[in-house]
Amino acid sequence: MDRHRDSLARIADRVPLRAWAPDTIDLPWGDPAFSERMLLEHLSQEHELASRRLTTIAAQTDRLVEWMGAAPREGVSPSVLDVTCGPGLFAQAFAGHGFSVTGVDISPAAIRAAAEITAGLPCRFIHADIRDVVLPTASFDAGVYLYGQAEVPAPDELDAILRRIRAALKPGAALALELRVASAVPRTMSTGWHTGVDGLFGSGTQLVLSERGWDAQARATVERHHVLDVESGELTIFGGTARALERDDWAAILTGAGFPAVEFHEAWDGLVFDDSTNWQVAIGR
Ligand SMILES: C[S@@+](CC[C@H](N)C(=O)[O-])C[C@H]1O[C@@H](n2cnc3c(N)ncnc32)[C@H](O)[C@@H]1O
Repeated sequence: MDRHRDSLARIADRVPLRAWAPDTIDLPWGDPAFSERMLLEHLSQEHELASRRLTTIAAQTDRLVEWMGAAPREGVSPSVLDVTCGPGLFAQAFAGHGFSVTGVDISPAAIRAAAEITAGLPCRFIHADIRDVVLPTASFDAGVYLYGQAEVPAPDELDAILRRIRAALKPGAALALELRVASAVPRTMSTGWHTGVDGLFGSGTQLVLSERGWDAQARATVERHHVLDVESGELTIFGGTARALERDDWAAILTGAGFPAVEFHEAWDGLVFDDSTNWQVAIGR
């Protein structure tokens, strides 16, 4: 029971939630075992976490093609860069619109699934961290960075990522960022717990103690999960940070990274999915 006691002591001694602290930077998307478990969530049609349902993605892609103004023209197949592409569900949908797609993702399981799902389509995938991936210059007709992933990096990191994307796009090409509406992000502390067997955070029976808070200085919501393996007493910590900024802030961030013309689309223009009203899309050029 020593291990259980040590783990409980670590939980009791935890530091307050803070944005981008060592245990709240992001989920371990690139970890092979975690990525296999997360892939099941991506592909589930029971919920819209990790990736949305295929019907939602098809409808979102219709709108993105229209908003980015990069539809195919007479025999010319435009190219789209999908940053943090997951298991290629958007790649498949964009290919259906006549696009060739390059996806980048850090998850080995997602990249493997993406190649399988888009077999025979003009899609290729790069298994890399968007923070240091090398991309071709002035190559893509459009870019997408979806599901709030631009909220995750710290400010300097995000600026570098957006500049890297800007350099990979052709001049004037559009980048679509899908972002949470700031007012939809809770700013009060909340805690919760559950038990489960073989879940997202590991195998075996687990006790998961979750907390979420607001880092006012970073203007970010921070989550942390202490996951106790009930049998062995081993403790694993998962966490993440996501900024909740106003439209003007996002416009300034995009402008600073080389996309001076920014327009916003609210709630996917009336598309209905689980939490569609919590989202907006910024199109920067
Ligand atoms: C919420 S999922 C969204 C996936 C996809 N855009 C979709 O909507 O189906 C976030 C994705 O970002 C990827 N990701 C997270 N951090 C990354 C990084 N630093 N570099 C590349 N990919 C990353 C994860 O592996 C995961 O596939």
